[in-house]
Amino acid sequence: MQSSQTWIQALFYLALITVSLYFLQFYILSDRLMVSHHKVTLKKHPNLPLRFNSDGTFKILQVADMHYGTGLTRCRDVLTSEFEWCSDLNTTLFLKRMIDAEKPDFIAFTGDNIFGSSTNDAAESLFKAFGPAMAARLPWAAVLGNHDQESTMTREELMSFISLMDYSLSQPNPLDPTKQQVTTNIDGFGNYDLRVRGPPGSHLANQTILNLFFLDSGDRAVVDGFKTYGWIKESQLSWLRGASKEHNQEKYESEVSTFPIPSLAFFHIPIPEIRSGQFREVFGQYHEHVACSMVNSGVLKTLVSMGDVKAVFIGHDHLNDFCGNLDGVWFCYGGGFGYHGYGRAGWPRRGRVIVAELKKGKSEWMGVGSIKTWKRIDDKKLTKFDEQILWTLS
Ligand SMILES: *[C@@H]1O[C@H](CO)[C@@H](O)[C@H](O)[C@H]1NC(C)=O
Ligand SMILES: *[C@@H]1O[C@H](CO)[C@@H](O)[C@H](O)[C@H]1NC(C)=O
Repeated sequence: MQSSQTWIQALFYLALITVSLYFLQFYILSDRLMVSHHKVTLKKHPNLPLRFNSDGTFKILQVADMHYGTGLTRCRDVLTSEFEWCSDLNTTLFLKRMIDAEKPDFIAFTGDNIFGSSTNDAAESLFKAFGPAMAARLPWAAVLGNHDQESTMTREELMSFISLMDYSLSQPNPLDPTKQQVTTNIDGFGNYDLRVRGPPGSHLANQTILNLFFLDSGDRAVVDGFKTYGWIKESQLSWLRGASKEHNQEKYESEVSTFPIPSLAFFHIPIPEIRSGQFREVFGQYHEHVACSMVNSGVLKTLVSMGDVKAVFIGHDHLNDFCGNLDGVWFCYGGGFGYHGYGRAGWPRRGRVIVAELKKGKSEWMGVGSIKTWKRIDDKKLTKFDEQILWTLS
């Protein structure tokens, strides 16, 4: 009696193991197979469209010049006492803390996101650099600086790759409206616009009330035998004028109180007028000679004639963090964010925040009423400073 019971028990366990192995095999195999075709990892998308919050705000974090290397690349221009324990990971930590502190609705990376010459794998560097934005599941977008392409990807490859990263709203170039494909008759890579709609459930819920323009300011160039930086070309300005016009067709005028619809622009290299410095006003710190192209392609003239771009956010010069007003358009530096970028020891890395706020009417939102900005430095308290109003609806 007893031995037959043991025997049945043994048989039972044997059967159990066989069945388990049988299913386990499927699990393992299918997992492998799925990697090859079924389970293609799809890009994760943020909630779209971009829109203002119910409290009437839309907050952008500008991150300029992360200069990311491998993740372990050493810091430049920090105090001797800080050097030993400082790497790209400090840039990552700073970005995480900024996201936690500000809870932005969107992050704009304004170029030199990676420092190409310090990494043998552009893809890996990009994943690490933008990692905190993806981990926070925040919509984000990037343009290129002059160093991003110095590794294993061309500028075209970089923008395609960046556009496919999780939660990224970056685009290689604008879609050709007739052919539904990426425009080829535009210079550079990373010219596109993003539209922000009104708060959920409001009467502005289906309307674009803020535009964000992104432009590729190039890398380096040789002009008449002189080495200089890149610049925004006429093909790009022509696209910009067209996009602005399309946003501001008269048929929309009756629908929003703020007209033309306010816009912000983001690119990397400053324009020549910032160097010559004919500012109406300057706010913030100006510690470094402005490094721009010797070619003036008429960006300021275009922006002034368009009338909708209220402020432009740039990078490139890490020791400048000021906003200066040229002919009614604000140009604001983000200030160097990344630890592997050059800086000044004892002058903390910094980032900029931009907030657009809707104007409240008697009973409903009236469209964008003001645009504010401030910065934070990477100290223990992420000290906030230089808060200023860039534009208000008059
Ligand atoms: C970099 O991060 C490490 C580890 O969190 C920290 O100990 C160090 O103080 C940071 N250095 C700087 C310059 O922020
Ligand atoms: C916005 O569009 C949605 C979906 O088409 C619609 O249900 C809603 O009523 C629209 N809201 C306004 C204010 O037009």
